[in-house]
Amino acid sequence: MSYDGRFRVWRGDADGGDLADFTVEVNEGEVVLDIIHRLQATQAPDLAVRWNCKAGKCGSCSAEINGRPRLMCMTRMSTFEEGETVTVTPLRAFPVIRDLVTDVSFNYEKARAVPAFAPPADLAPGDYRMQQVDVERSQEFRKCIECFLCQDVCHVIRDHEDNKQAYAGPRFLMRIAELDMHPLDQADRRQAAQHEHGLGLCNITKCCTEVCPEHIKITDNALIPLKERVVDHSYDPLVWLGSKIRRRRD
Ligand code: SF4
Ligand code: SF4
Ligand code: FES
Repeated sequence: MSYDGRFRVWRGDADGGDLADFTVEVNEGEVVLDIIHRLQATQAPDLAVRWNCKAGKCGSCSAEINGRPRLMCMTRMSTFEEGETVTVTPLRAFPVIRDLVTDVSFNYEKARAVPAFAPPADLAPGDYRMQQVDVERSQEFRKCIECFLCQDVCHVIRDHEDNKQAYAGPRFLMRIAELDMHPLDQADRRQAAQHEHGLGLCNITKCCTEVCPEHIKITDNALIPLKERVVDHSYDPLVWLGSKIRRRRD
């Protein structure tokens, strides 16, 4: 069973662009990425699109479909009505390079700003012994495919470009939470999360969780616990007393 589907695809580059209308054949079982490939093959050979695995695992085919951040390879055409126009646009939070391809280097810069796992200095690699219960919480976060859909949807940077400097975004706040929950990690990550990576700007709207293709509970399992850990640390009377005594000694 096939039909002629109506599509609007954003064409342009860093200097500007517009939506272009196309009619493309749609076959049973296809996903949006199939349509984009057919469009490239039959009508728009210079259409720029980034993809790799077509299996929801490489995280490179991120785009906005009818305004919602999604993976093109995991969005079935059967989710739309036959007569419906399907609009495909590039991720809005990042600068466009061309057509559906955006420059996501903001995310790599934020990744580099999070210090690596810091095990105890006297523990040699291979000597780590941990129980499953110790890693269960952070294991969920390791499912991340770095598609940056959560980064794209988060209003803190989506609607406020000037916040980018001060805000790591849900994916990297989740990475900080993962490391902070690691029983062997020695770094104090809580103050940095709050003051260097902008944890306070997240107002737990859960939009990041809603778009995550790996169904990671980013807000409930990473961001809220990290906020609680920051508060516990900042308002713990023993930590407060310790800092006073330290300050007096200095
Ligand atoms: S919960 Fe926080 S990180 Fe997630 S989209 Fe909302 S403000 Fe952004
Ligand atoms: S947390 Fe989910 S939405 Fe965010 S980058 Fe990872 S897989 Fe993508
Ligand atoms: S092509 Fe790899 S996630 Fe879509």
